[in-house]
Amino acid sequence: MGASGPSRGEPMNDSAMPDFNTAAQEAPQVVDTLGRPLRDLRISVTDRCNFRCQYCMPAEKYGVRYHFLPRAELLTFEEIVRLTRIFVKLGVSKARITGGEPTVRRDIDQLIGMLAKVEGILDLTLTTNGFLLAQIAEDLKRAGLRRVTVSLDTLDNEVFGRMNGRGFSTHRVLEGIWKAVELGMAPVKVNAVVQRGVNDHTVVDTASYFKGTGIVVRFIEYMDVGNLNGWRLDNIVPSAEVIRRINEVFPLEPAERSYRGEVAERYRYVDGTGEIGVISSVTQPFCGDCTRVRLSPEGKLITCLFASIGHDLRAPLRSGATDEDLEERIKNIWRVRDDRYSELRTSLTPELRKARKIEMYAIGG
Ligand code: GTP
Ligand code: 5AD
Ligand code: SF4
Ligand code: SF4
Repeated sequence: MGASGPSRGEPMNDSAMPDFNTAAQEAPQVVDTLGRPLRDLRISVTDRCNFRCQYCMPAEKYGVRYHFLPRAELLTFEEIVRLTRIFVKLGVSKARITGGEPTVRRDIDQLIGMLAKVEGILDLTLTTNGFLLAQIAEDLKRAGLRRVTVSLDTLDNEVFGRMNGRGFSTHRVLEGIWKAVELGMAPVKVNAVVQRGVNDHTVVDTASYFKGTGIVVRFIEYMDVGNLNGWRLDNIVPSAEVIRRINEVFPLEPAERSYRGEVAERYRYVDGTGEIGVISSVTQPFCGDCTRVRLSPEGKLITCLFASIGHDLRAPLRSGATDEDLEERIKNIWRVRDDRYSELRTSLTPELRKARKIEMYAIGG
């Protein structure tokens, strides 16, 4: 491998930009205090999950007695779609369904179908742990889901069973991934969070398994999201190390970003058998290009993955606010946004870093 990879500030290859960015980028409706427009909407549809990943929803805390949100508190599909239309007016053209685990929300394919019809959403996708995917992939595809991202931290069954807190093997997740491939939900992406001493010894195997399949694995630096995972800086494996380890076995070269604000840095195999990505939110934060807004299952608008509060949209939604009222409310929240936690992380005192944050499973990463 030659250079250490494209730096965040490097110019992009404009011809590679998909329409969903260029179209909307011409005239942003609203920008925050750092000049960042609103582009991507991440919709968390449930706080429930069928896994108990140690770093997200540890089984000790989320046992049978834990009270997840009651159904009446969740936004209805109609409410989600209404808000999505308003976000589109404000510049959003990409929507991602997340959770918890979005496939455990009843009739999720109906929501996909409704969102697929929203004019202006040019990229509609979903992040799942894959456990139920093989069962419902056809329904999702039929409803209009064009691509999917599956979380799979390792292919080692023993390590995976420990990480997912339920002892599940990779079998069903892989079945889900291959079903999505078979249905042409391309590109299927796989997210692998890398934790030192937990699954970092399996990174090359993961890369090797997916090499040449068209599936794009992205290795994610473990982050201090939420308050439960006891995160420490030395738990992370810097992306540079992941790349170095894979490159030693399968030579890599840096590839250009496919669109502005892409969180993953891309590398392709020199032998032409595909690409991988790394998401380096700890060692190379990407707040400067952060155009993401998150909607929690109960209708809070969250302007940063590390926020400690959300802004309630459900109350106005349910008390007669017009679309214009809601639009104004969202604009006012976005205009004063100054979040850039990942850029500040290492300069924060441990106390500030520990300030209470929203849990990952409530906002879907
Ligand atoms: P594509 O649309 O396929 O490019 O997906 P994406 O890059 O938006 O990826 P995805 O939503 O799968 O995000 C991958 C992971 O990157 C998430 O699960 C998070 O761990 C991390 N991530 C995504 N967005 C943010 C963000 O705004 N801030 C931080 N710090 N991390 C993020
Ligand atoms: N750091 C990095 N990524 C995380 N995810 C969940 N918790 C963390 C964390 N602490 C990832 C999941 C999934 C996505 C929704 O977020 O593995 O791929
Ligand atoms: Fe569930 Fe995803 Fe959290 Fe794991 S990381 S517990 S799969 S929501
Ligand atoms: Fe965006 Fe916050 Fe992540 Fe920075 S830390 S990229 S501002 S969500």
